[in-house]
Amino acid sequence: MVKVAPSVLSANFAHLKEDIEKIEKGQADWLHYDVMDGHFVPNISFGYSILKDVSKVTNLFLDVHLMISEPQKYCDEFIKSGANLIVFHIEAMENKEETLQLISHIKEQNVQVGISIKPNTPVDAINDYLALLDVVLVMSVEPGFGGQSFKEIALDKIKDLASRRKDNNYNYLIEVDGGINETTGKQCKEAGVDVLVAGSYVFNSEDCSQRIASLK
Ligand code: DX5
Ligand code: ZN
Repeated sequence: MVKVAPSVLSANFAHLKEDIEKIEKGQADWLHYDVMDGHFVPNISFGYSILKDVSKVTNLFLDVHLMISEPQKYCDEFIKSGANLIVFHIEAMENKEETLQLISHIKEQNVQVGISIKPNTPVDAINDYLALLDVVLVMSVEPGFGGQSFKEIALDKIKDLASRRKDNNYNYLIEVDGGINETTGKQCKEAGVDVLVAGSYVFNSEDCSQRIASLK
């Protein structure tokens, strides 16, 4: 069954603990934590000090999506603050050597590692790393804001990643992020996705549990 990872970017930060309890009760599988630096993306969200507090009030798997420049500078702070998975953007990396170093650095700390690609970045841009990854995160909106509409280009990338995994015996999970609701979630499942991130669809509702169940 597909995993659901509600994005707390759409939670109410003034009662974050209660919102996290709601998604736990609703059988969320992961908690998706969107970090934005106002540089890699034109928006600012939250950093590692809030992650540390979040990690103390939940046992959910913490999926940290770094939408930041120079992720290698900050990833250790997120790991110390409880991240179970660090996902960085390929577009934030200078070259292959730097990317391989960051992957090993994260893995050495027994934390899972993923790479994300923006809507205009082809799967080929990460082909060299697929064998090393726990997760590939396909962006189905331009990163930076919740509440945007799903871009269909993500569906082809999900299918492509599923077939590359099958042909090469890779182990990564395929995760999709942006504009996920019942309809687009179903399309992604049909394409072969493993993890659905959903922010506004889950939190902009009186009944988070029903929304999570509808995605599953
Ligand atoms: C967008 C973030 C997403 C966002 C998704 O840059 O990476 O995780 O929270 O929000 P929705 O589900 O509302 O598109
Ligand atoms: Zn995200």
